[in-house]
Amino acid sequence: MVSEARILIAPSVLSADFADLGRQVRAVTDAGADLIHVDVMDGIFVPAISFGEVVIDAIRANTDVPLNIHLMIQEPENLLSTFAKVESDQILVHAEACGHLHRTVARIKDKGNQVGVAINPGTSLSAVEDVLPMLDMVMIMSVNPGASGQSFIPQSLDKIRRLKTMIEQGNHSAQIEVDGGVKADWTAQDSVKAGATILVAGSAIFNDHETIPEAMKGMRGCLFS
Ligand code: DX5
Ligand code: ZN
Repeated sequence: MVSEARILIAPSVLSADFADLGRQVRAVTDAGADLIHVDVMDGIFVPAISFGEVVIDAIRANTDVPLNIHLMIQEPENLLSTFAKVESDQILVHAEACGHLHRTVARIKDKGNQVGVAINPGTSLSAVEDVLPMLDMVMIMSVNPGASGQSFIPQSLDKIRRLKTMIEQGNHSAQIEVDGGVKADWTAQDSVKAGATILVAGSAIFNDHETIPEAMKGMRGCLFS
């Protein structure tokens, strides 16, 4: 049994109604979101383009919860002044998108932000191994990045377990975050059992069959049932 306080829920606004974004961000904040997950897509690293600085500023204006900013952009180091400008935000870059991952991570830390590295389903854990001591989080992508509403890839669970062992054996402090297809069912439960402590959830929180408070309650509740 995991302790409730240890698991952070990070709703992904990519699934929100953008015509009503401010209200939805306030609703998810009031419903107890620990972090707000913000997906920035550049149309190069992933096929889709989502949103950038202007929308992130609008999200921040509607919540006091730290933003968990997932940069699905090629060479994010070139845009750190845009995306790592508020110290309370957490910045996640993709190992696959950085030519000089160590330097990019170091620059984010120098700015005072917490930093994470995300890896795609097809990327081995060895891609993060040499920067692991520097990281606040490692994000295991449990779908191929680029869109909400995809199905959780079950092999991600074994990857989370192996990452947990790597972190423990090295005596590191990085948290394990999981992103993609996480619902209020075995996907959340087994991710937590495997070692994840931050759950990103988009379509499981912003959907048209339940309210945001119901969805948040369902997600938290399923972890302890
Ligand atoms: C996918 C994004 C995810 C996505 C999650 O590329 O990184 O954060 O919004 O959405 P769901 O939970 O619906 O898979
Ligand atoms: Zn994401």
